[in-house]
Amino acid sequence: MKKIFVSIVLSISLLKASADEGMWLPMLLGQQVYNDMVKKGLKLTKEQLYSINKSSLKDAIIIFNGGCTGEIVSNQGLIFTNHHCGYGAIANASSVEHNYLKDGFYAYNKDQEIKSEITVQFLEKIVDVTKDVEEAVKGLAWADRIKKLPEVLKMITDKVEDKENGLGGRIYSMFKGNQYIMYVYKTYNDIRLVGTPPESVGKFGGDTDNWEWPRHTGDFSIFRVYAAKDGEPAAYSTENVPLKPKHFLPVSIKGIKDGDYAMIYGYPGGTNRYETSFGVKLKNEIENPSLVGLRDMRLKYMHEQMVKDPAIKLKLAENYARIANYWKFFDGETKQLLKFKTFEQKQQYEQAFIKWAKNKPAYGNIFAEYAKNYESWTPYSKHRQYINEGIVGSPLAAFAATLIPLEDALINKGAESAEFKKAMAAATSKRKAFLDAEDRPSDEKILAAVGMMFYTDIDKNQHPEDFYENLSKTYGDLNDEATYKKWAKDIFTNTIFLDDAKWDAFAAKPEASILQNDPAYIFAGTFVKNYNKKYAPLYTAFVDKNNELGKAYMKGIMEMNPDAVKKMYPDANFSMRVSYGNVKSYKPRDAVQYDYICTGKGIIEKYKAGDYEFDLPSKQIELMKKKDFGQYIDKGRNDLVVNFITTNDITGGNSGSPVIDANGNLIGLAFDGNYEALSHKIAFDKDLNRTICVDVRYVLWCIDKLGGAKNIIDELKLVK
Ligand code: ARG
Repeated sequence: MKKIFVSIVLSISLLKASADEGMWLPMLLGQQVYNDMVKKGLKLTKEQLYSINKSSLKDAIIIFNGGCTGEIVSNQGLIFTNHHCGYGAIANASSVEHNYLKDGFYAYNKDQEIKSEITVQFLEKIVDVTKDVEEAVKGLAWADRIKKLPEVLKMITDKVEDKENGLGGRIYSMFKGNQYIMYVYKTYNDIRLVGTPPESVGKFGGDTDNWEWPRHTGDFSIFRVYAAKDGEPAAYSTENVPLKPKHFLPVSIKGIKDGDYAMIYGYPGGTNRYETSFGVKLKNEIENPSLVGLRDMRLKYMHEQMVKDPAIKLKLAENYARIANYWKFFDGETKQLLKFKTFEQKQQYEQAFIKWAKNKPAYGNIFAEYAKNYESWTPYSKHRQYINEGIVGSPLAAFAATLIPLEDALINKGAESAEFKKAMAAATSKRKAFLDAEDRPSDEKILAAVGMMFYTDIDKNQHPEDFYENLSKTYGDLNDEATYKKWAKDIFTNTIFLDDAKWDAFAAKPEASILQNDPAYIFAGTFVKNYNKKYAPLYTAFVDKNNELGKAYMKGIMEMNPDAVKKMYPDANFSMRVSYGNVKSYKPRDAVQYDYICTGKGIIEKYKAGDYEFDLPSKQIELMKKKDFGQYIDKGRNDLVVNFITTNDITGGNSGSPVIDANGNLIGLAFDGNYEALSHKIAFDKDLNRTICVDVRYVLWCIDKLGGAKNIIDELKLVK
């Protein structure tokens, strides 16, 4: 009985990708997985999904700006991605006078398209390099292996690098270092902004609706890839021409039904589905709550400022959105991990593994070692979060901390050394970026708050020596907020980093004492150096050991379940994946049923004039009330379908990914996951997990009816 139970747990909760779980490597799709896709409704051949020699779907999928996905939708290099992926570029192109973030923007001809700092990457080919890697590190102990690995990987990617043609390789470790696969990319860097809806549409519902269904967001933006006349990558130039892609996605406006096949290509950033119970516990008890508490505080002070003034809003918008997005994610993640009892499930699985591993020298000790490793790191884990999310959560302190190498170079090599000159040039450009996004009032409040939070929440034995004693001597009671406010005010008043004249004087005649006496540098430098000296080495050792154990654990899992290996997929790591599933409604909790689509009616229901998150352009209200939906109408609902949900397995990085129908046409853009399954990085829930997508008909309606950009619609290949 017990044995059967164990093997069921093994195959259901961890191993075989159940239901629509799975982020598959498109070039290594096993026959079993492909057959399952066909069973679900796919009408394409394996070659149409991925081919090296012929154009295939993968050629239309790009990495958008290093962290999102985009897709090519016309024969002139037109890109669709999410609004939240284009957000920074849109904010950068905006000013208070031409506020594209607020009002939206469309280029009505190519001359109006706006240059951006975006880059995109096309996948050229994929090579399994496991043998080359293993050969080069053969026989090495773990510590030597990881020391040598970067140089080995570089040697392999150097062979495919061709700067002139924008070619470069990146090697991904799969199955926790049990396999190495190289992706070769071609990078283009003349990417122009073609269109965006106003933020009220592109981010409708804001952080209140973020990570939630039902959702009514027009989360799309439009860009274009430009290339030299020969189609090769080239720096921005008016001579460049729109790229002729190998493949682009036709756009279907036929509409969707519950149960329809849906496939998502893209670049999921990271999952850890083979996380241990130890990792889950540390996350739930320390890492996530610390991060959430610190971000709560930072967001509050930023938000106070952003609502006051559109110029400040533009300055802080990108950082605020980034911080808020994963603030809500990590809060929700812990809630769902607890709800699904993931810790207990992992423990159960580990017990079975331990039993299997007994008397097997390669595996027998893994969990005893995990326990030891976590035990030694756990006391410092909160400290690490307070550095990363707290101390350098103040933009001023974050900038100051980047100057540590500058101080080192100055002291050790001197002001005339090449090292120092290089560090100084880097500091000058970092300072500019810092000042462009700096809002003093919110930063000062953050710095004061974090000074106090660190004092209160972190073990006194770990505080940097003398720091708080000195602070107290000048400013008073360490348990009083007012103390930290005075202290922070002095930092902001006296630092040279916010004062051009003083900074320039330092640059002209650099002396270490100037840095060493700067109050912002004293603060950031003291905390960061204390961490780097005493705790960072412990963290590195912890991570290295975890990786060593993880590799062995993964290998053991595969050995223990040889039959299930065919249906195993490697954790997400920002390499291209395909996931398949269906459009599907769900029951989030007892007695509640969620529809698989939502409509314009819901937009009007949520609309709140003048609200920070739920306002809308008046034109949108008018058109919706008139039911002016043109060819984008959903006849069944006699309304616009705005968003829909699918069972696909995706995660951050997939943002902007195409949702593709059984015939290879674009039906929507994936942009989020649902709250009830936010455990998904660690535990995919087959009943509750949903991907939230913007219906492409709503995208086209926004472009056409709201934006009047018929030129863009004319460029697409519509399937009606
Ligand atoms: N949660 C979405 C993702 O990570 C981002 C949504 C952006 N919208 C927002 N309100 N922050 O892909």
